[in-house]
Amino acid sequence: MVVSADRLASEAGLDILKKGGSAVDAAVAVGFVLAVVFPEAGNIGGGGFMLIRKKGGEAVVIDFRERAPGASRRTMYVDSAGNVTDKTLIGHLAAGVPGTVAGLLKALHDYGTMSARDVLRPAVELSKNGFVVDRRLERSLESCKSDMSGFPSTMSIFTRNGTLLKEGDTLRQPDLAATLSRIQEKGVEGFYKGETARLIAEEMHRGGGIMTLKDLEDYQAIVREPVRGSYRGYEIVSAPLPSSGGLCVLEILNIMEGYDLASMGWHSSGSVHLMAESMRRVYADRAEFMGDPRYVEVPVSALISKHYAGERRREIDPARAADSTSVRHGSPQGNEGRHTTHYCTVDASGTIVSTTYTLNDLFGCKVVVGGSGFLLNDEMDDFSAKPGVPNAYGLIGGDANAIAPGKRPLSSMTPTIVLKDSRPFLALGARGGSKIITAVVQAISNVIDFGMGPQEAVDAPRFHHQWMPDTLVYEKFCFPRDVIQNLEQKGHRLNESDGPLGELEAIAFDSSQGWIYGAPDSREGGVALGY
Ligand code: GLY
Repeated sequence: MVVSADRLASEAGLDILKKGGSAVDAAVAVGFVLAVVFPEAGNIGGGGFMLIRKKGGEAVVIDFRERAPGASRRTMYVDSAGNVTDKTLIGHLAAGVPGTVAGLLKALHDYGTMSARDVLRPAVELSKNGFVVDRRLERSLESCKSDMSGFPSTMSIFTRNGTLLKEGDTLRQPDLAATLSRIQEKGVEGFYKGETARLIAEEMHRGGGIMTLKDLEDYQAIVREPVRGSYRGYEIVSAPLPSSGGLCVLEILNIMEGYDLASMGWHSSGSVHLMAESMRRVYADRAEFMGDPRYVEVPVSALISKHYAGERRREIDPARAADSTSVRHGSPQGNEGRHTTHYCTVDASGTIVSTTYTLNDLFGCKVVVGGSGFLLNDEMDDFSAKPGVPNAYGLIGGDANAIAPGKRPLSSMTPTIVLKDSRPFLALGARGGSKIITAVVQAISNVIDFGMGPQEAVDAPRFHHQWMPDTLVYEKFCFPRDVIQNLEQKGHRLNESDGPLGELEAIAFDSSQGWIYGAPDSREGGVALGY
């Protein structure tokens, strides 16, 4: 089974599985194909996290998060008036050193069975032969037109005779095909050294960026232990730092576990209030404590302990919403030993892969590396450019997530696997920046607390609270009018979102019957394919 945001990517993954490839081979192929057919988020110029679980239970996370270039400085985005500039988001300075190629090839080398040549073939063919632009890509291009217009290398790919590509046009990407072919032939060296690295360094030179050949050569994907916890008897396995995703999901679920949400009812004002209050406190902890573990000491086991969740739960008034300005991070004690994409694959042997990767914003920093055909990320915006100043997702942070050379910015990506009695139950993850975490929490709760089927759990309307700004955001049609009134009476500041709150892709397992259910998010046209 393959579930991704795009039909061509799911088809490529399914084809690999049918040829005898593993879930890892399929995941790597899907990652490269998304870089071609879903250029607003799929990428080779960004980074992410891949969670792999083998049938026997061994689980690892490949961390291929971007790194700050060696010449980065803590205050590099603060102007002389003390304001954070938009250089965290647009243009060459916004790009972190890409990790995707190193991460996908590390997964293939350590856990896959096929060659780079074979798994990259569908991506090379699609970039050479082209694919038909769909309505989603047309809309994404339209929404980013003015930010992209300053970069001729980008406009030359996404326009014809000065007009943006439209639904029904064919997009061929010969430069990208050549870049992917170099990766096919030379592996990681086909990207981080030689011709591609030279093109990146030249692009940086042209556009005032700071990424160097040495930054590229030094980049390494890291194999990490996932974080683990439990929720009402189910085991949760998820992404560790430098993603905050796994920690935040576990901390929110731990707090929620103390409440009988099922008896309160799905989307009752009582259950929504308690879930939102749990979220509020966890995002305050995220802002204070979390960052790249190579640079800061994070009290990981204390933060995800049931004991600490109990302390945070005691602060919650079941009848009243807190004011975020008075909610502070907690004191975890203990000894310490808007635009991403998620996809899941599973093979006949039972290996499951849950991957989230991103350029950060749609089309990243909007810069295509001249001559190479791929976009660079704007992941530097995920750092805290200045304490207390929100990033594009409204997230604030402090020292733990300050910029430093070589550091990885804190992420919210949350590739997750849920187990029951050590057997797979759910594999899931989402796009949506800060909203990834709460989307994953709600899908898990929808299934475990409220007995929904996988598709219903993914499609159900969602809400989100991230401490700051102090707003309970909800999707259109999320709550009936009386629930909105009750939440307002409890003191929540409600705001209807103008778009979807994240996009989830999931696979559910019914081990007793041997069934596997693909559950793509209906919000944006994800596709599940299996055989
Ligand atoms: N760029 C979004 C995230 O990593 O959370």
